[in-house]
Amino acid sequence: MLLPLLAFALHTASTLVAAQLALPSQPWLPPSISDGASPSNQSYPNSKWSTLVGNLLYFYEAQRSGELPQTNRVSWRNASALDDGREARVDLSGGYYDAGGYDVANQTAYLDDMLRWGLDWLVKAHTNESTLYVLVASKDVDNSYWGGDRSIPSPRPVYQVNDTYPGTDVAAQTAAAFAACSNLYGNRALDSSTFSTPASLQDNGFSDTLLTHAQQLYAFAVNATGGRKVYQKSVPQVADAYGSSDYGDELAIAALFLSWATGDAALFAEAESYYEKYNLADSNRVFNWDSKVPGLAVLFSQIAKSNPSVGANFTTWQAAAEQYFDSIVDNKKSPGRMTGGGLLFFEGDSDSASLNPALNVAMLMRRFSTLATSDEKKTKYLNFAQSQLDYALGKNPMSGESALLTYEDANANDYTILVPYIVGANPNSPSNPHSAMASGGNDVETIDTDPLNTTYTLYGAVVGGPDKLDRFFDIRSDWPQTEIALDYNAPMLTLAAMHALADRLDPYYTALRAGEYEKVKPDGFPCDAVFTSGCRGPHMSKGAKIAMAVSIVVVSLIVFGLAGYYLHLLIRNAKDGTV
Ligand SMILES: *[C@@H]1O[C@H](CO)[C@@H](O)[C@H](O)[C@H]1NC(C)=O
Ligand SMILES: *[C@@H]1O[C@H](CO)[C@@H](O)[C@H](O)[C@H]1NC(C)=O
Ligand SMILES: *[C@@H]1O[C@H](CO)[C@@H](O)[C@H](O)[C@H]1NC(C)=O
Ligand SMILES: *[C@@H]1O[C@H](CO)[C@@H](O)[C@H](O)[C@H]1NC(C)=O
Ligand SMILES: *[C@@H]1O[C@H](CO)[C@@H](O)[C@H](O)[C@H]1NC(C)=O
Ligand SMILES: *[C@@H]1O[C@H](CO)[C@@H](O)[C@H](O)[C@H]1NC(C)=O
Ligand SMILES: *[C@@H]1O[C@H](CO)[C@@H](O)[C@H](O)[C@H]1NC(C)=O
Ligand SMILES: *[C@@H]1O[C@H](CO)[C@@H](O)[C@H](O)[C@H]1NC(C)=O
Repeated sequence: MLLPLLAFALHTASTLVAAQLALPSQPWLPPSISDGASPSNQSYPNSKWSTLVGNLLYFYEAQRSGELPQTNRVSWRNASALDDGREARVDLSGGYYDAGGYDVANQTAYLDDMLRWGLDWLVKAHTNESTLYVLVASKDVDNSYWGGDRSIPSPRPVYQVNDTYPGTDVAAQTAAAFAACSNLYGNRALDSSTFSTPASLQDNGFSDTLLTHAQQLYAFAVNATGGRKVYQKSVPQVADAYGSSDYGDELAIAALFLSWATGDAALFAEAESYYEKYNLADSNRVFNWDSKVPGLAVLFSQIAKSNPSVGANFTTWQAAAEQYFDSIVDNKKSPGRMTGGGLLFFEGDSDSASLNPALNVAMLMRRFSTLATSDEKKTKYLNFAQSQLDYALGKNPMSGESALLTYEDANANDYTILVPYIVGANPNSPSNPHSAMASGGNDVETIDTDPLNTTYTLYGAVVGGPDKLDRFFDIRSDWPQTEIALDYNAPMLTLAAMHALADRLDPYYTALRAGEYEKVKPDGFPCDAVFTSGCRGPHMSKGAKIAMAVSIVVVSLIVFGLAGYYLHLLIRNAKDGTV
């Protein structure tokens, strides 16, 4: 179950907040759910994509920990976990609970607000050059808590990595996030001829602060006295749910973002040497909070292309990126496979959240498409990315029997039910997200029935997604399908912002009118990491992994785009949950 555990931060030094964008005096609020069931007039900017960007950002606000500001838009959220860090005499209150075309969409101030809420907390958690707090929570206590934000068990213990007990991955990843956001606030766009940071968002002072933190954390990651190791070796409490598989990709991505920030060729070469040394080319599989490898080739390509001072060979990285994308689209030695309904599915990863890995690939393809070797490839990547986005926004055969058919069959089937997998976007959207705070319940024993109907609509939350048979059951306790998380939202936010920038056409779900598709549950049971009883039928695959998420925190980097250039956001995940 989702457990609020973790946090990002309040304002630290006043210099950090001085230049934050003023939020509108009349707050922007999500429209009613029926707004997602009526097409727009398809003008530009498209109001439906703008609304989606707004909803996705609103979700992050609903996940805030700590004291909430006057500008809080989520009326049902209260201040919480104010004493985080007290035992170590560090203020770690704030941040986010989890389980990741803003100007065009008129959402830049909310983007700024969302990023600073996370970055300010990370600044607080980085208490000196080689000390970084990486976990706030008690596995034993928090893991079994299901309830609102006013009775979260406390005190919440805090855990750090430091020079003698380092965490190479978590330090490097945090360095990457700081460097990426330094690039954003410092207007160091990769493709500056076309895109730049909106003037209102530029803040050189904040950018410099972030860069200093990035450089210190990178040095700590590379040269800690305790050597290089994954952070669960120093903080075993993070191991169960958020153990990191390795640290080579984090070192590479940190060096890359720093080379972008500084134009330093040596850092770019260092990133390349990590790619070699840690054999990353051979571990090119899924892109998620733990593994950034498929994103590396894209980022190498972008920096090599746009920044000649790093002296890199663009062609090499372009080829590496295309090899990965082609394997997926052409379905030759693909790291994943397609479900009957057309969702890219990574066995072993997608079983515990199917949409996130597919949307991450869509985001990377769309980002990379302008760098493709040919128009043909560009079109191929854009089409594939579109197919995954459309699937998540409702172009899918979510149903009982028909899910066992092919997508074409399902389309022709009268009782096909289409589900856009974003809470509050459309009348057919999921309504039982795995969120204790939104559910209004207090007892994990009766998680699905008390209350029967979700108390607060968690607008803009992307859920885990359907099972491998394209079926979605909307069961609150079935966290692989209904979990919400900071990183689940991240690729959707990027894609929605890109569409807000580029599209006149609506997101797919405005075609799904209320009543046209009756909201029912499929027959039988799901086939995912919680329920295996539903794993029957032609697409059955054995070994759905049971994942026991616990109250653990990691820092993970989620890549997303801002009005056509890269924005990289640090997402800190605090998941929990027994099943
Ligand atoms: C953008 O937001 C501002 C401030 O809330 C508002 O005055 C303006 O009308 C909005 N513009 C659009 C196009 O929504
Ligand atoms: C289309 O709708 C928008 C509001 O969503 C409105 O501002 C615009 O004037 C409309 N355009 C036309 C051509 O009707
Ligand atoms: C860093 O901070 C920790 C406490 O957060 C402290 O124990 C340690 O001595 C500090 N190290 C330095 C070099 O200041
Ligand atoms: C916030 O506090 C109010 C008043 O006590 C309560 O009704 C509501 O459920 C709380 N919200 C959460 C998410 O616990
Ligand atoms: C360094 O981190 C380890 C692991 O979290 C912790 O046990 C130790 O107390 C820390 N050292 C200091 C000086 O705080
Ligand atoms: C790591 O230490 C070596 C040897 O002192 C030094 O040359 C290098 O610059 C350090 N790396 C970083 C990133 O600080
Ligand atoms: C870049 O690498 C490719 C092989 O990947 C090679 O054919 C080409 O000559 C290299 N270009 C330069 C300028 O070194
Ligand atoms: C729960 O929601 C359903 C469907 O919207 C509605 O028919 C029912 O009355 C609701 N039950 C309660 C107890 O609010």
